[in-house]
Amino acid sequence: MTQEPQTVLLLGATGYVGRHFAAQLHDAGYRIRAVVRDRQRAEAEGAWGSPPLAPYVAEYVVAASADEANADGSLMLGVAHVVSALGVTRQKADPWLIDYGMNLRYLELAEASAASSFLYVGVMNATVGTSLLTRSKAAFMAALSRSRLTPLIVNPSGYFSDLTEIYDLARRGIGAGLGDGQVLLSPIHGEDLAAFCTGLIGGPATTVDVGGPETLSYREIVRLAFEAAGRKPRYTSIAPGLAHAATWVADRIGPRQSALTRFFLEGMQTDGVGISVGTHRLAEYFASLAEAHSVAQRR
Ligand SMILES: NC(=O)c1ccc[n+]([C@@H]2O[C@H](COP(=O)([O-])OP(=O)(O)OC[C@H]3O[C@@H](n4cnc5c(N)ncnc54)[C@H](OP(=O)(O)O)[C@@H]3O)[C@@H](O)[C@H]2O)c1
Repeated sequence: MTQEPQTVLLLGATGYVGRHFAAQLHDAGYRIRAVVRDRQRAEAEGAWGSPPLAPYVAEYVVAASADEANADGSLMLGVAHVVSALGVTRQKADPWLIDYGMNLRYLELAEASAASSFLYVGVMNATVGTSLLTRSKAAFMAALSRSRLTPLIVNPSGYFSDLTEIYDLARRGIGAGLGDGQVLLSPIHGEDLAAFCTGLIGGPATTVDVGGPETLSYREIVRLAFEAAGRKPRYTSIAPGLAHAATWVADRIGPRQSALTRFFLEGMQTDGVGISVGTHRLAEYFASLAEAHSVAQRR
């Protein structure tokens, strides 16, 4: 007798990581119910080479909040596991309301259902970060770790998608970082992260820091970006004192500037290395960006 596929409720499905989740969960045999804000955008290809949801998602719930998604009370019906890559990155929204509040509301709905686990993609070093982004994620992780659902908390290093910015700057001849750039990262491709996370579902509770297959200093990442762009590497060292000044100014401009500035500057000053998973290497990703750029120029 063939077994019915288990249903996964996927949150943050339209993001870089969420889209890779959809592909990996589908290929692992799960049935996906995805909450999205815009179905047409969801079904199209995503940013940074992340896949369209169309081939992978069985059921869409179009909603901008947990309560809207559950308006008829059926959101969690038949759901075995929840996977959340829901969080504010470039969206203009308050991380406390989304990374903490919205994830918490979905958790409450899951706790009132027959779902058995909740996998959350957080961020590394969340418990020591001072930005509202990291504080909001840390608060949700604390709530999740006390849940009756099996908590699966995965804290990734920097995504390839985010490091695209370093390649774009290198292409313009700009390479800069805080201090000597010796902070270590283990950048991870969305596909590798999603594949690793998918393998955790159905297993015991865990909290794990995860990175890609190689550990690189920030300065090495800048060098790889210049090499891919076909330029002589440059690295301008920004005095750490300037980071304090930038934070001071951002705190006084407003909460969004404060959260983003603190998040990125703290990320550039703290090692972000997790257990090594996956196969995608950053140099190959940068080379694919260079290839895409040269194809676009030839058109
Ligand atoms: N980038 C990194 O290097 C990095 C490293 C470690 C951890 N993380 C964390 O990993 C998670 C996923 O990252 P990602 O790069 O995949 O992010 P992303 O591409 O920006 O995707 C975020 C997802 O959350 C949804 N979302 C954001 N704000 C929302 C709002 N106000 N209302 C409803 N939905 C909202 C987005 O929906 P829409 O598509 O409709 O906007 C999208 O589906 C985030 O929590 C991020 O902080 C990132």
